[in-house]
Amino acid sequence: MTARADLDASARALVGVLAEAGRARAPTGATEGVDLVTNDVLALRRDARVVGAAVAALRRAGLGAGGSRLLGGDDPAHRALEAEAAAWTGAEAALLYPSGTAANHGLVAGLVDRSDLVVAERENHGSLVEAVRSARARTLLVNRGDLGALDRALAMGGPRGRRFVVLESLHGMDGDAADLPSLAAVARRRDALLLVDEAHAVGLLGPRGAGLADPAAVGDVLAARTLPCGKALAGAGGLVVASRAVVDLLVHRSRAFAFTTGLPPAVAAGTLAALRVARDEPARAARARAAARRVEARLLALGQSVAAVDGAFVPWVLGRDDRALEVASALRARGFAVRAVRPPTVPEGTARVRLSCHADLTERDLARLEHALGAVVR
Ligand SMILES: Cc1ncc(COP(=O)(O)O)c(C=O)c1O
Repeated sequence: MTARADLDASARALVGVLAEAGRARAPTGATEGVDLVTNDVLALRRDARVVGAAVAALRRAGLGAGGSRLLGGDDPAHRALEAEAAAWTGAEAALLYPSGTAANHGLVAGLVDRSDLVVAERENHGSLVEAVRSARARTLLVNRGDLGALDRALAMGGPRGRRFVVLESLHGMDGDAADLPSLAAVARRRDALLLVDEAHAVGLLGPRGAGLADPAAVGDVLAARTLPCGKALAGAGGLVVASRAVVDLLVHRSRAFAFTTGLPPAVAAGTLAALRVARDEPARAARARAAARRVEARLLALGQSVAAVDGAFVPWVLGRDDRALEVASALRARGFAVRAVRPPTVPEGTARVRLSCHADLTERDLARLEHALGAVVR
């Protein structure tokens, strides 16, 4: 067998094993029915202001950035998004990467030295896991929210090197908000710094609606936050917000910034328009969160298990993969676009249906959903 045929055969065999275990995966688009899958929880992706800003930038700048932002690909739309994101979050500066994944990678790999200690939450998003790996610093894992374990892990840092704590503020699968003031107190005691991914909190939570790791709540142990823009901010890209000094360092040291084509300017412009709406119309976030709490209440009344609902989605934990698949398909048959989330995205035995509640769900949608949940559970 040639090396090429061998490669294809082993790839087919591996995918076959996954499919046999019920773990086949395929990209899916928007399905019919009431959308309970989207991360566009403020329902801004199709907002006329957002689309209008993107179209205007598309006409001005064309499709792509045309290069790395360090080699001719920088655009005023990138700068404007960075400036407003920094002001909104109370940071000195911001840096825009082409995705949230790139922002996490760029931040951690650009900031952390090999002599540093990283304490990361075991449940962190895959992009943070990879980012921490790429930094090649000594890394200790702790369970999310275990302040005692965090304290002990941070005590293991040596005299040389800094200590960083890496976590998600609102967990993307469990739905719980980190206790940032307590985490900050532990970090302060151990002279450590926080790197916080706000993917599921930006636009929804925190004193300014810009996320939970607000400088007012966390203080000077906050080193940086990443704001992935593909969720409540309705676009794409990922911002790092931090001090001017840290942002300048990332411009010089972050490969994920230097060696990649800049985000298409139209996407930056549309995302900025969405940021402005998220900032100026907090009622949208309130609607999305209230809808999620209402769905949670219904599931709890039906005796179901819900992980936590501090944001705009409801992690309905069903346990076995087949049960989650069955519930998802029963809800789809009743007109709700939902998907099951299975291992390895979540731990074994905790397959779930993640009901994402966007700001434009109507009273009728919610009443129908409450009814459908009752029918599916029984
Ligand atoms: C917590 C978290 N961080 C980072 C990302 C990555 O963001 P992006 O999709 O922009 O790469 C995601 C998206 O799935 C996420 O949930």
